[in-house]
Amino acid sequence: MPALVLLGAQWGDEGKGKATDLLGGSVDYVVRYQGGNNAGHTVVVGDQKYALHLLPSGILSPECTPVIGNGVVVDPSVLFSELNGLNERGVDTSKLLISGNAHIITPYNVTVDKVTERFLGKRKIGTTGRGIGPTYADKINRVGIRIQDLYDESILTQKVEAALDGKNQLLTKVFNRRAIEAGKVVEELLSYADRLKPYVADTVLVLNRALEDDKVVLFEGGQGTLLDIDHGTYPFVTSSNPTAGGACTGAGVGPTKISRVIGILKAYTTRVGSGPFPTELFDEDGEALRRIGGERGVTTGRDRRCGWFDAVIARYATRVNGLTDFFLTKLDVLTGWEQIPVCVAYEIDGKRVEELPYSQTDFHHAKPVYETLPGWSEDITSAKSFSDLPKNAQNYVKALEEMSGAPISAIGVGPGRDETIEINSFL
Ligand code: GDP
Ligand code: IMO
Ligand code: MG
Repeated sequence: MPALVLLGAQWGDEGKGKATDLLGGSVDYVVRYQGGNNAGHTVVVGDQKYALHLLPSGILSPECTPVIGNGVVVDPSVLFSELNGLNERGVDTSKLLISGNAHIITPYNVTVDKVTERFLGKRKIGTTGRGIGPTYADKINRVGIRIQDLYDESILTQKVEAALDGKNQLLTKVFNRRAIEAGKVVEELLSYADRLKPYVADTVLVLNRALEDDKVVLFEGGQGTLLDIDHGTYPFVTSSNPTAGGACTGAGVGPTKISRVIGILKAYTTRVGSGPFPTELFDEDGEALRRIGGERGVTTGRDRRCGWFDAVIARYATRVNGLTDFFLTKLDVLTGWEQIPVCVAYEIDGKRVEELPYSQTDFHHAKPVYETLPGWSEDITSAKSFSDLPKNAQNYVKALEEMSGAPISAIGVGPGRDETIEINSFL
C-alpha cells in the first residue's frame, strides 16, 4: 500500500520539513533516501522550532519510525549531536533505523570538500562544506566506508587505508596539506560503533515488509530537483539524486510501490550557493522576499538568493519526478505586493522558450518572460480553506497550478503545522 515521495521541486528549502512533519502523524515510516547533513529542514511545532539536518522529520511524530536509508551519507558526530539535542528537548529517538549500507562521511571527506572549494576559487560550487560530494565520490569510486564496516576492524582498516592512499597524495602534493593518518581515522570511526549499533538494520527488508503489511511509508527528499546530480543545473548541484527515482535506489523499494509523488513548491524561488537562477532579483523586491520569508540557510547561515516564481522550473519538476501533487508553501510571504510577476517562459538569445533548455549554456543565457498577476493585501495566515483566501490569492494559486502541470493539493500560509490549507488529502 501507499508509498509517498515528498521532494523539493526547486533548489531546496521549499518547506519539505514542515510538509513531512505535517504528514508524519499519519504515516508509519518516514525515510530519508539521499543527501546528508547538507540539508536543513525546519519544523515548527507549537512554540517549538526544530532544525533537522540528517534525521528524517518524522522523528518528531512519536508513532512514526524514522529511517535513514542506504542512499544517505551519514556523519556520525553530527548524527549524535542531533540525537542529543532532541533527547534534551524530550523527543524519543529510540525508534530510529539506519541502513548498514549507508556510507559514512569521514573527517577526510570533509577536509577534501573544503580544500576543493578553496582551490576552485571563483568557480566554486558553494557547497555546504559537509563532505557530501567527496563521500559520494568515494562511494562511486568503490573506496567508501559503510556503517557496517564499523563492525569489522580489519576490513575497516583496509578500506580506510585504500581510501587515504590516493587522497594523501592529493592533499600533500596538490593541496599542500598534511597527510591524514589512517590509524587515527580508524580509531575515531570505531569510537562510534557501539552507540550506532542499536539503530543499524536491514532497512530494505523492514520497508518492503512494512509495505506488504499495508503500512504507509513516506520518503522525504533532501535538497531539490534542480540540485539533482543528473537533472539539476550541473555542475552547480549536490552529489545525489533528490528526484523521485532516488527514493527507489536510496531506500531499496521498487518504483511499482510508489503511489504518489508530492513536489514541495515555494510560491517564489530561492537558491543557496553558486549557479544560474533566471528569476533572481537584485533589487528591493529580492531584499523584501528575503526579509519577509526569513530566507537564511538553516545549515550554513548564508543568505538565500531570492526571485519570483518560475513556472518553467515547476513544469520541469513535474516531468522529471512524475509529480502527482504540489504542496505550495509560503504563499503568506507574498502578501502586500500589488503586482506579482511570474516567469512563464524564457527568452534565450532572442527566442521564446517554454521548457527548461537541456544545454547549460542556454540556461545561463535564459532571461525570464514575466506575466504579472494582481496581488492581495489581506493577512492570510489564519486561512483554513481555499475559499478563506482573498480572490487574488486564489487566482495566483490557480494560475500557478495551470502553469505547473499538477494539482496544488495543499497550501502553506505560515510555518506552523496548522498553518496549512488542505485541498486534496495526501493519504
Ligand atoms: P526545507 O529544507 O525544504 O525543509 O526548508 P527550510 O526549513 O530550509 O526552509 C523553509 C522555511 O520556511 C522554514 O523556516 C520553515 O519554517 C518556513 N516555512 C515552511 N512553510 C512555510 C509557509 O507556508 N509559510 C511561511 N511563512 N514559512 C514557511
Ligand atoms: P535542503 O534539504 C538548499 C546546495 C549548496 C550548494 C550545492 C552543493 O535544506 O533543501 P553540497 O554541500 O550538497 O555538496 O552543496 O547544493 N545545497 C542546498 N541548498 N537546500 C539544501 O538542502 C541544500 N543542500 C545542498 O548550497 O549550492
Ligand atoms: Mg533547508
